[in-house]
Amino acid sequence: MTGTDDGGVKTMEVDGKQHKDKKAEERWNQLPWVEKYRPDKLDDLVAHDDIIQIIKNLIEQDQLPHLLLYGPPGTGKTSTIVAAAKKMYGSHAAYKSMTLELNASDARGIDVVRNQIKEFAGTKQLFSKGIKLIILDECDAMTNDAQFALRRIIEKYTSNARFCLICNYVSKIIPALQSRCTRFRFAPLARDQIEGRLTEIAQKEHCNTTPDGMDAILRLSGGDMRRVLNLLQATSMSSDEINGTTVYQTSGAPLPTDVTIILDLLLNQSMQTAVTDILKLCGTKGYALVDILQELTFEITALDLPGPALATMLDGMSDIEHRLAFGTSEKIQTAALVGVFVKARHQMEMASE
Ligand SMILES: Nc1ncnc2c1ncn2[C@@H]1O[C@H](COP(=O)(O)OP(=O)(O)OP(=O)(O)O)[C@@H](O)[C@H]1O
Ligand SMILES: [Mg+2]
Repeated sequence: MTGTDDGGVKTMEVDGKQHKDKKAEERWNQLPWVEKYRPDKLDDLVAHDDIIQIIKNLIEQDQLPHLLLYGPPGTGKTSTIVAAAKKMYGSHAAYKSMTLELNASDARGIDVVRNQIKEFAGTKQLFSKGIKLIILDECDAMTNDAQFALRRIIEKYTSNARFCLICNYVSKIIPALQSRCTRFRFAPLARDQIEGRLTEIAQKEHCNTTPDGMDAILRLSGGDMRRVLNLLQATSMSSDEINGTTVYQTSGAPLPTDVTIILDLLLNQSMQTAVTDILKLCGTKGYALVDILQELTFEITALDLPGPALATMLDGMSDIEHRLAFGTSEKIQTAALVGVFVKARHQMEMASE
């Protein structure tokens, strides 16, 4: 009986364990690809080699200064500092106890700076030695008061903690904080840097890709690796093949062929025809005018247009983009876009007479 019971228990344990492992694997597979493929080590990051090398050297020489990492979204700022912290502290337990990650835009009041940071930086660890790391992500969302408070806290705790501030807009960080940190700018990733990683992940996930599909992802990403992975995952879920058309459809960006049609209407048709046809096209395809403006900007700057006419177009389009940001009517702004082109065409005609 007992034997059988024991056997039963054992089997259950084995089953239980297998079950657990399977669950972990399931959870792993359910992760969004941006998290699943977040670089774990500094060497896994595919860009900014110079910055990575400097940070590695500073860690190896135990001379890490306060850091300020800034640049556009999805360029690897958070991934870099998390990988650097893992390198610094080695084991997972040490990393957990020696690192404080705060997302400054969650709770950006002065209390967060005063209390949470003070509490963490001020307490001694019994079993781990060394410098603690405080990561303040998205700190351009911190109020100026909180930033001023942080200035003093940084000085007070420099002997046992290093701060890493991360933001998109460095101009929103007060100069006094900037001068306390070593600044690193994370530029948008270059096409060839993204390409290798994209191909590797597409293969791992068994995506059925075509070269123009990969090209469309690279083009639409604008150097943002997060956007690359999200677009790859979303397209692979919505269609069997990742090609140019499915990528554009998934992202909601206007298809290049439609942008060519719109540009043709703007440059050659009467005001009425252009407005009606563009509205019709955008209506049936569900395009947002702001996306069309972005694509049009690439197209017209590649054309050989006279300077003054190009300036009128770009100036007018940037006004329209600004107005759209405040939720104005797409219909009126579409008409305004056509108006801008009519004006620029008139300018070109006058100049050629
Ligand atoms: N240099 C890189 N090498 C490899 N993968 C990268 C790189 N940069 C970004 N990624 C991928 O993009 C995702 C987002 O990167 P990360 O969170 O580091 O961006 P970020 O610069 O902190 O952006 P944000 O300013 O929006 O916070 C990561 O999970 C990773 O999968
Ligand atoms: Mg980040």
